[in-house]
Amino acid sequence: MTVIVRDFRPRDAESFSRVRRLALPFMLSTPQSVAYDVTHAHPDAHVRPLVAEEDGEVIGTAQTGIAYDSPQPGQGYLNVYVHPERRGRGAGSLLVRTAEERLAEVSATKLFAWVLDEPANRDFAERLGYRASRSAHFLRLDLANGSLPPRRPTPADVELRTAADFADDPRPLFELDAQTLLDEPSDIAHEFTDYEAWLKETWHHPLLSHELTSVAVVDGRPAAFSAARTDGGTRYGTVMTGTARAHRGRGLAKLAKNDSLHRARAAGFTEAFTGNDSGNEPMLAINKWFGYEICATEVHHVRQLG
Ligand SMILES: CC(C)(COP(=O)(O)OP(=O)(O)OC[C@H]1O[C@@H](n2cnc3c(N)ncnc32)[C@H](O)[C@@H]1OP(=O)(O)O)[C@@H](O)C(=O)NCCC(=O)NCCS
Repeated sequence: MTVIVRDFRPRDAESFSRVRRLALPFMLSTPQSVAYDVTHAHPDAHVRPLVAEEDGEVIGTAQTGIAYDSPQPGQGYLNVYVHPERRGRGAGSLLVRTAEERLAEVSATKLFAWVLDEPANRDFAERLGYRASRSAHFLRLDLANGSLPPRRPTPADVELRTAADFADDPRPLFELDAQTLLDEPSDIAHEFTDYEAWLKETWHHPLLSHELTSVAVVDGRPAAFSAARTDGGTRYGTVMTGTARAHRGRGLAKLAKNDSLHRARAAGFTEAFTGNDSGNEPMLAINKWFGYEICATEVHHVRQLG
């Protein structure tokens, strides 16, 4: 039984997504989203996913690429997940080493990998030369049985809309997403400066629900938003909540996210997921207010190349 690692092929989308969902059930993934991410990636991102295969079965996956939207060049990432019942066969190490070689070829100098916070995973990363950095939590909210905070009256100068209302011109949402992203704590600084890339990677992403994404508008401009993804089943995920700097601290993030969650529950979604850097105190406070509970923690691991 030999484990091999090879490039992802379009027909792997189904098994790639299945392994990801088994290894990381808090993140939404579908075969369509896997295929879309590969075919619509920015050329500078050098996205080149890998699979580990044993006897024709995909047992491990790696997402690899360069954080091309970071002002710091050479920052590569590799996120490796092995089927929980196929661990200990060498798939993880082989995926990491192959990804590292590929990333070095495209001039990566620093590598980042998310590692679920369990002793075996952390030991694995440390043995391969990675050191722990920031951590982040996955949070889950039971929409079917839990209770949401009641809707509050919308302030007189605020209007609640959905992303679908911006279908003719989503640029104001791009601008708000770009501004708020700058303030999200993270090891890798990201900047959205390329509107066409944002349209492809965010706006047209197959998991983004324009209908369930809520936007709080003040003076005709988006001031806060909560961006929702859905997986075609009953799972809903928030990919970003943000409030323009000038409008923070007046409850607009809570307002937008509560609107989205109430509408998601009414539409039949039963579970809500999100992820927050463990140092993002305002967002963790907001999610606690909604009733989200931490369901897993992952630790970013870093390795300097060369
Ligand atoms: C996080 C963010 C969305 C909050 O937006 P906001 O509109 O100011 O949020 P709200 O006013 O609705 O609620 C903020 C809550 O956080 C609490 N809060 C603020 N700073 C806090 C801190 N340091 N520690 C704990 N709680 C804090 C406030 O007290 C408030 O709760 P309250 O209503 O009980 O007073 C905004 O700061 C932002 O855009 N940050 C950058 C983007 C980001 O990190 N988004 C989250 C990505 S996962």
